[in-house]
Amino acid sequence: MNSIRTLGAMAVAAVAAGSLWAIARPAVAAEGDRFATRTVWACDHRKQVVVEGFAPDQKLPPAKAQQVASLLQDLMRFCNEEVTARVATDERVKLSVNGLPFVEYVPGGPLPHELVVGKSEVTDRDRAIWKAELDKLVKEGDRLFHSDEIGTNGIACAMCHPNAANTHPETYPKFQLEMKKVALLRDMVNWCIQNPLEGAKLADDDPRLKALEAYILASRKGVALDAGKH
Ligand code: HEC
Repeated sequence: MNSIRTLGAMAVAAVAAGSLWAIARPAVAAEGDRFATRTVWACDHRKQVVVEGFAPDQKLPPAKAQQVASLLQDLMRFCNEEVTARVATDERVKLSVNGLPFVEYVPGGPLPHELVVGKSEVTDRDRAIWKAELDKLVKEGDRLFHSDEIGTNGIACAMCHPNAANTHPETYPKFQLEMKKVALLRDMVNWCIQNPLEGAKLADDDPRLKALEAYILASRKGVALDAGKH
């Protein structure tokens, strides 16, 4: 009798331990999650938001994603500074600017004095570098537009479109009758490469396609965008 009672007590203890284990396991996993982070970068690649409680490859739910996007927009007031924001699971935000220690931050609110940075101006040197880089790409596009090297039959774009005439980049995207679908400027560039020039279509990320696009668009600087115009 005694031994049966002992066995029974052991069984109860085992079940209790089992259920405890069952409860404990998810709690341990949740604990691990708190240390997981997903990082989202702004387009300038100088601002990042580290979202706590999400795995690196985990999709953010809409409300969280909006919070992150709004925070990144808000951080643009730091212009050229390198800013890392950490969003805790309780929504509190901390900021570090240019590698300095994290301080508490209320998005949109006044800047804590630790975060005040000198107004960073775009210098003439910056502008000169940016312009030189753009000019380089446009010049390469100009060269390709006047050369027979992207085709196979000796014909160049400029033979029919002198100075990029009648390329109308400002009217794209638009429905193209030849293709029976909406085309981007690059689709039309490729169309003309394949048709009059009898060349091979360029991939979207081909530097030659980018250069041609840059040249055509730069040649229409100042013309208002008018997508869909025929
Ligand atoms: C044989 C003459 C010829 C050559 C060479 C030629 N095109 Fe065209 N291109 C045309 C014609 C014709 C059209 C149609 C014009 C229109 O729709 O108004 C056209 C249309 C375009 C358009 C769209 C214009 C619009 O109004 O929608 C672009 C962009 C374009 N060409 C770029 C190029 C590029 C880039 C090259 C060189 C890879 C090139 N073309 C070579 C004759 C040519």
